Amino acid sequence: MLKTALPYQNSLANALPTDLFEAIAHLKRDLNAVVLAHYYQDPDIQDIADYIGDSLGLSQQAASTDADVIVFAGVHFMAETAKILNPHKLVLLPDLAAGCSLADSCPPEAFAEFKAAHPGHLVVSYINCTADIKAMSDIICTSSNAVKIIQQIPADQPIIFAPDRNLGRYVMEQTGRDLVLWQGSCMVHETFSERKLVQLQIDHPTAEVIAHPECEAAVLRHAHYIGSTTALLNYSQRSASEAFIVATEPGIIHQMQRAAPSKRFIPAPPINQCACNECPHMRLNTLEKLYLCMKNRQPEITLPEAIQAAALKPIQRMLAMS
Ligand code: 13P
Ligand code: SF4
Repeated sequence: MLKTALPYQNSLANALPTDLFEAIAHLKRDLNAVVLAHYYQDPDIQDIADYIGDSLGLSQQAASTDADVIVFAGVHFMAETAKILNPHKLVLLPDLAAGCSLADSCPPEAFAEFKAAHPGHLVVSYINCTADIKAMSDIICTSSNAVKIIQQIPADQPIIFAPDRNLGRYVMEQTGRDLVLWQGSCMVHETFSERKLVQLQIDHPTAEVIAHPECEAAVLRHAHYIGSTTALLNYSQRSASEAFIVATEPGIIHQMQRAAPSKRFIPAPPINQCACNECPHMRLNTLEKLYLCMKNRQPEITLPEAIQAAALKPIQRMLAMS
């Protein structure tokens, strides 16, 4: 007989406590869990996290944690990376649908053909890709170490860089290397309007533009400083400027404002009148879903063993080269 949960059973299993912060703190102790959060998460989630960071920092934390359970407040490829680094640990993602347009822009079958069309090339993949793509790569990189990693590869070695064409183009400019680029992109970082950015600079002439390298060249050419989310956060603290126009997902502003309360942070404007500079994938996670995934110990990240083993090597190479 088909067993289906009665509606009241579902609602009991998903009943929420009045103080979610306290309930999550209890579950962290009970499960010996660590909550890792990306800067693009809702401020509430950032506030409950044990560690908040960029993709490199989060991978380094995942590689070194002694917690039994990793609760990943980020998107699927990030939680997958944590699982690859910790095959025997329980890795939870509050919403399994939290994907990434950039990772989706590089399907494994098409990438296998692309790779086959470029024999003799080393494959350097941005961490914003699926485990399948990582398994086809030689080295993984993030926005904070991409330049450093490419600089360590012998000058005569041809390189495929995937999947982000904007980061790839930026790395080419910084290193003088010729990279074969996969033409993927991030829907959030391609949404900024150069025209509105220039107008904002006119309205705020003392503000510095700080931008993530996933942005298009038309936006990056106006930037006073370009870097990963952690690099942007650090720059906003050490710069003498009192105001910044921030060209990345605005979730980072929570930490920028906390670290420098007297400074002003203005989100760079998107092309449309929408909140499309917020990552719709990242924002699928909520404090409620975070609580429920810890309480129910699911959704859990699982991966085929062969993919897990093949994807581990290029991640370990990245960690060693960072
Ligand atoms: P970093 O975490 O490397 O700054 O990249 C930002 C991003 O787009 C993550 O999805
Ligand atoms: Fe992917 Fe862009 Fe969202 Fe980062 S901000 S998770 S790259 S869609």
